[in-house]
Amino acid sequence: MKNTPSWLKSAIFYEVYPQSFLDTNGDGIGDIPGVIRKLDYIQSLGCNAVWLNPCFVSPFGDAGYDVSDYRKVDPRYGSNQDLIRLFKEAHKRGMKVTLDLVAGHTSVEHPWFQASASPSQNKYSNWYVWTDSAWTESTREMPLIRGFSDRNAAYMPNFFHFQPALNFGFQEPDPDKPWQLPTNHPDVIAVREEMKDIMRFWMDAGADGFRVDMASSLVKGDPEMKGTIAFWQDVRAMFDSEYPDCVLIAEWSFPKHALQAGFHMDFMIHFNTEAYTSLFRDERKRDGFLTPGTPYSHSFFDREGKGDITRFLRHFTEHFEATRDFGYISIPTGNHDLTRIRCHRTIGELKVAYAFLWSMPGVPYLYYGDEIGMRHIDGLSSKEGGFGRVGARTPMQWNRKKNAGFSTAPASKLYLPIDPSHARPNVEDQEANASSLLNHLRSMAKLRKAHPALGANGDFSVIHGKKGKYPFIFIRRYNDEKILVAVNPANRTELVKLDRKYSRLRPLKVAGVSLKRNGPDTELVMKGVSYALYLVESARQCTF
Ligand code: NOJ
Repeated sequence: MKNTPSWLKSAIFYEVYPQSFLDTNGDGIGDIPGVIRKLDYIQSLGCNAVWLNPCFVSPFGDAGYDVSDYRKVDPRYGSNQDLIRLFKEAHKRGMKVTLDLVAGHTSVEHPWFQASASPSQNKYSNWYVWTDSAWTESTREMPLIRGFSDRNAAYMPNFFHFQPALNFGFQEPDPDKPWQLPTNHPDVIAVREEMKDIMRFWMDAGADGFRVDMASSLVKGDPEMKGTIAFWQDVRAMFDSEYPDCVLIAEWSFPKHALQAGFHMDFMIHFNTEAYTSLFRDERKRDGFLTPGTPYSHSFFDREGKGDITRFLRHFTEHFEATRDFGYISIPTGNHDLTRIRCHRTIGELKVAYAFLWSMPGVPYLYYGDEIGMRHIDGLSSKEGGFGRVGARTPMQWNRKKNAGFSTAPASKLYLPIDPSHARPNVEDQEANASSLLNHLRSMAKLRKAHPALGANGDFSVIHGKKGKYPFIFIRRYNDEKILVAVNPANRTELVKLDRKYSRLRPLKVAGVSLKRNGPDTELVMKGVSYALYLVESARQCTF
């Protein structure tokens, strides 16, 4: 793949939500030294790259997605020196660290915004999207916050009201609204160059790239994404010429656009497609963060067995085919915005889901705690703008000791409470249990590493993926190697007659699946909640 850092093709990422990972100074909140201490653990899972959620100075109205100093680590996590040490320690182990770049907005407390809110004209007046009157009315397309300061203007928020949109210009400025600056306005270009300098600052310090928050949100009035795509292509040109080994990863959820824009990878999660929700998250739509008003439906990975894999395939196949020569798609186990994948699933069901995720093309992403099946904790009070999302952000469960080994602080001082269940899973117990979820994931990572067909670049073709039907069976292929992957998340036995070209199958990892031979025909017998990976052998290779 042209100009794509080669390490990405064998990457498995681990997302660390720093506040909840490991607290090393007893203040009840996780920190960067805690991430360093757990690098060996992360690596033991087969993960060789970390995505660290925002760790910069912030008032934490949105858990750090409201930055007030892009060049400084927030003291609650440590110092810039700690972050640099994290880069070094990761590199010593052959691992990578990517940071979270909140490019579309800052906190209202950022000095740029404070200056921009001033009624007197200054360098930063145009750095945010301000109208020309405090009375400009919000519209559906353009919500506005009025009366923030004595500047006679209203500003556009990008997410919550305290996250004002940085001004990357308007693709088609309305001539009747001169405050809508074009993308080539000198002040707009100054914002773009500043964002690039921030990236340079951290890559020069040792970061291996960025996951870009809301990457599609930058240029306003840009329905076809032309301006936003052009913006990122410019950033990508900088990567190619100055930081060719660093990666740009989008939170866009529309890989066709994101990869055209120059991102090396995009997540396929919420927002524009139903692809991800139809796999894992439909049951929870009614609970909040995901698009309200979307009709309740059933996930494919659900033991009720009422899902429909074609809802996923329709989107995935289209985006995969269109982007596979340019970069990767990632289907993560979860993230800090989504309900935990564990929610209402058993460990057995998670094993099936992970067998699928670790066998797909692109790059796997593991959200901290999903390796042990941490639960989604309902009913918590909101913290730092998390609302329903806080249930997926509770402290990591390391062992059976105080605060599950997360912190030595009194329980009342923890960032969020630990899962109160006595049966809560933890790393130490699962390490000691060969059949645990954690060890399942380790063996999936080993398989993926050992078999290029299962890797990022292999082909992907469906051999059984019918509307409303189970199981889902697909072939991964790279050069001469072919692997058949079958998953049956439904809690009922399913039989599938395989094409004769798949009659010679060598088991790689099988749970609850058997092969029934009937003369020259082979039938796959899949018990409820089962999975199997088989190497497809040619007659020459056959070992039985
Ligand atoms: C997406 C982030 O993942 C989420 O946590 C945050 O609240 C919004 N973007 C706003 O930055």
